[in-house]
Amino acid sequence: MSTVLSNGAGRRRKFNLQQFARMKAEGEPIVMVTAYDSTSAKLAEMSGVEVILVGDSVAMVCLGHQNTLPVTLEEMLHHAKAVSRGARTPFLIGDLPFLSYHGTPEDAVLAAGRFLKEAGMDAVKLEGGGERVPAIEAMVKSGIPVMGHLGLTPQKIHQLGGFKPQATTSEAARTLLQEAKRLEEAGIFSLVLESVPAEVAEVVTNALTIPTIGIGAGVNCDGQVLVWHDLLGLDEDFCPPFAKSYRQLGRVIVEGLQEYRAEVKERSFPAPAQTRNMAPTELLDFESRVKTC
Ligand code: KIV
Repeated sequence: MSTVLSNGAGRRRKFNLQQFARMKAEGEPIVMVTAYDSTSAKLAEMSGVEVILVGDSVAMVCLGHQNTLPVTLEEMLHHAKAVSRGARTPFLIGDLPFLSYHGTPEDAVLAAGRFLKEAGMDAVKLEGGGERVPAIEAMVKSGIPVMGHLGLTPQKIHQLGGFKPQATTSEAARTLLQEAKRLEEAGIFSLVLESVPAEVAEVVTNALTIPTIGIGAGVNCDGQVLVWHDLLGLDEDFCPPFAKSYRQLGRVIVEGLQEYRAEVKERSFPAPAQTRNMAPTELLDFESRVKTC
């Protein structure tokens, strides 16, 4: 059952799992973006995007790590809680961090369940292929919707030897297709394909009944995802080659900060508009009291 909620962008229905399937069937692209705090989540909701991913990319874009491996389950939950406080209508997905789902299927269910039970997420995402099937099956049996992630899987960065395109050979592409089918059989509701050739992503997309969400995987996936900081150009020095910065907000922010700094230095901030003055009678009285202090 879907709920009608009101938000800053007008009245919109909470996006649900059934709509993923419907949009694939109708050929309507699914729009997903990452967010890590409640203000960004609110802005994402106002833009009309259907899905917000609280990605473990938070490790790199917010927490200053070199890769996604160090972020902990507790840190992910902290960000996920903030996001769910900011957005009500998009479908919310929490990214399971490295080593939170690699033990027994029961441990994986407990970690994944915390995203739904404590952090207000609607689903979780995990990286990997067939080796993740027992964990996925256990989560799905427990009522936890799971999104998969193949291609460039950053939690395997050391094995992959860097943030490199994947499935570039015919053999590797065949393996990726087989893994995608295994994940679908295990019960995932959608699959992220990261940094794979467009031709491979298209074949995988056509072979699956569940929607694929691409990042660096061409235009023929069933949806697209971008990382918040890349999309908005928050880091002027870095944007992955497959991402697009729709705005250069990093520059806008620095300009705003420079203007603030200059106004403080020249004492033009705060101006009368940002200043509260005492009522004249109170001021007179205060001045006389100051003299007796
Ligand atoms: O962590 C993340 O932001 C992701 C997306 C790039 C899909 O996994």
